[in-house]
Amino acid sequence: MSELLTIDDISVTYGNIKALRNVSMHVNQGDIVCLIGANGSGKSTLLKAIVGQEPLVNGSITFDGEEICQTRGANGKGKKHKILTTDIIASRGIALVPEGRRVFSQMTVEENLDMGAFMVRDKALINERKEAMYDFFPILGARRRQKTRSLSGGEQQMMAIARALMSGPRMILLDEPGLGLAPLVIADIFEKIDLINKQDNVTVFLVEQNARMALKASTEGYVMENGKIVLHDASASLLENEKVRAAYLGE
Ligand SMILES: Nc1ncnc2c1ncn2[C@@H]1O[C@H](COP(=O)(O)OP(=O)(O)OP(=O)(O)O)[C@@H](O)[C@H]1O
Ligand SMILES: [Mg+2]
Repeated sequence: MSELLTIDDISVTYGNIKALRNVSMHVNQGDIVCLIGANGSGKSTLLKAIVGQEPLVNGSITFDGEEICQTRGANGKGKKHKILTTDIIASRGIALVPEGRRVFSQMTVEENLDMGAFMVRDKALINERKEAMYDFFPILGARRRQKTRSLSGGEQQMMAIARALMSGPRMILLDEPGLGLAPLVIADIFEKIDLINKQDNVTVFLVEQNARMALKASTEGYVMENGKIVLHDASASLLENEKVRAAYLGE
């Protein structure tokens, strides 16, 4: 299987805080890969770095063979030189579903979906994708003219995923899709994520604090602690790993 996303030795800092420390990882085309880790370990920072929202101190990020972020200077010093802007990275086929969903609550469901397609020029294609989203998430079809703030947390999460899919991505990055939701709703959302991967062939990189759900939903997993990748293995193996069981599965 070919590598779609390759992260090579990246670091990100916020002032004196080293949020990511020499992180390397990859996601193969067609896979669901998860990243688990405690609060503040750097998971969201990694996703933001991938979409060009946080500058790199060192390292590089390659998507489908094209370097999308790198640092200026071989010594890794100096400010990041962003090769591609966030918009361009999105148009290359990566879509982020951000932590906390970040829906536009004053807008209707339909207007939110339109925002997700802001890089798409073809009106007919936008409408086709919207109808596909309403078929895939019937609740969104039923609520298309309602303000998003009237939706439940689970419905808002589905809308955030649908909005990301409106750009027609090859890969989606999901930042804690289960956050604050009831177990049955989380199960629904994970089922949808699996269908998006299997039916639409969208590669998935999933960040979750709910380690058990994430490992069950994925084929490969990474574990992050204090900005470092400390484990990488098949998800089935991580579910059996004693350290993972003690630290993340509450066993
Ligand atoms: N904008 C920021 N300015 C300063 N520090 C930040 C900023 N964003 C994150 N941090 C710090 O960087 C570290 C990593 O944060 P990050 O949000 O990536 O962690 P996380 O694994 O996503 O956590 P959570 O599980 O709570 O979402 C933390 O110490 C956090 O306090
Ligand atoms: Mg986070």
